[in-house]
Amino acid sequence: MNKIVVSGGRRLSGEITVGGSKNAALPILFGGIVTGESCVFSNLPRVSDVLKALEILKFLGARIRFLQSGDVRVDYSGVRAGCAPCSLTSAIRGSTYLLGAMLAQFGRAELGGAGGCDFGARPIDQHLMGFERMGARVSCLENSVLIEAPNGLHGARIPLAMPSVGATANLMIAASLAEGETVIENAAAEPHVAALAAFLCDAGARITGVGTDSVRVIGVQKLYGVQNSIIPDMIEAGTYLCAGVACGGPVRVRAVCPAHLTPLLDTFSKMGVKVQTGEDSVTVTALERYRCIDVVTGPFPAFPTDLQPQIAALFCLGNRAMGEGSVTELVFRSRFRYIEELRRMGAIVSIQDRCAHIQPSVLQARKLRSPDLRGGAALLLAALATNGQSEITNAATVGRGYEHLEAKLRALGAHITVF
Ligand code: UD1
Repeated sequence: MNKIVVSGGRRLSGEITVGGSKNAALPILFGGIVTGESCVFSNLPRVSDVLKALEILKFLGARIRFLQSGDVRVDYSGVRAGCAPCSLTSAIRGSTYLLGAMLAQFGRAELGGAGGCDFGARPIDQHLMGFERMGARVSCLENSVLIEAPNGLHGARIPLAMPSVGATANLMIAASLAEGETVIENAAAEPHVAALAAFLCDAGARITGVGTDSVRVIGVQKLYGVQNSIIPDMIEAGTYLCAGVACGGPVRVRAVCPAHLTPLLDTFSKMGVKVQTGEDSVTVTALERYRCIDVVTGPFPAFPTDLQPQIAALFCLGNRAMGEGSVTELVFRSRFRYIEELRRMGAIVSIQDRCAHIQPSVLQARKLRSPDLRGGAALLLAALATNGQSEITNAATVGRGYEHLEAKLRALGAHITVF
């Protein structure tokens, strides 16, 4: 996916089926290393980040089979201690999960670099602090990190400085094979953290407290291969719901877990958007104008940072939005790079420290450049809602997280071509 061309200003309506969660799939795929056996995954999204993760696992010795049913079998029995090339690991953020998994399984983990979206510095000091507390020795080399625990890991109390998704997941993976009890304090409670815990527990791990800020893991000697169905992608679902709001709707997203979407749906309700929730579906309708409000991101169950750019795009749309709104980004220091592109369309946004104040204005179709995955999604929403032809380059950033993007948006009536 290099470029997205959109002829915007059309009403979008209809329904789409949401795929599996990228952010659940990545820790589960790498976490599977600790089983040392074969696991079968269903609902695995075929987005580039997930395909890259499979490539990394293959390099390390896993055997991957795409089954006729659509499931994917990963046989981890051939995985050996080693370091995947930086050219692979630096393409995705999720490669950091190799640290916990390889360390627990082989007593040694090395990572040459981890990628992901550029939101400024993305340190992993909390992951490393946790591994050290479990008895590992951490050496930070110029562009890589080496972690060793030749005598195995032991349980520990690990107070995280912030409820980091990555650190909670990584430490849960490592602790599942450590000797004794580990308590992760100030743990993240995101649905994809709970999904990883459920996968590990099915494989034989003993984990409790998931969804609270204190996660307990009692290490076991061995884990076993299992079947796992990846949970629905709440960020993909949320993005299509935002498309429905931006372009009128009604848009229905199917195969979702509505409870995971509560922070977004509450926000929509405050904006005056009509929301209908079914057992595994959500429908939004925004035929009337909606209000801008103030949104603040935070760890689950607060508003997700991964939907912050999309909601900001909705506030920019002068043909639909009323009043003034703001988005305050409390999770990442630097997650407003997409705003410069929205300004090029005519958006009126002023940024003060962590808060972007938005005054709706009539936007113009433009040639735009996607800065990162969700920032690119925000540009796409603005383009879909704006009359005229817009182009989004650097679109591979968007392909990292949206499966069948072109087909799904076309099904809603969008005029979109992906090159
Ligand atoms: C994951 C998601 C990402 C999402 C984010 C927050 C994946 C692959 N990525 O990223 O899409 O936006 O959760 O929901 O699942 N921090 C530290 N030190 C650490 C760890 C984190 O300072 O050791 C800081 C980060 O810089 C950031 C905040 O804590 O400011 C939250 O980061 P974290 O929850 O760890 O995000 P990721 O796991 O990187």
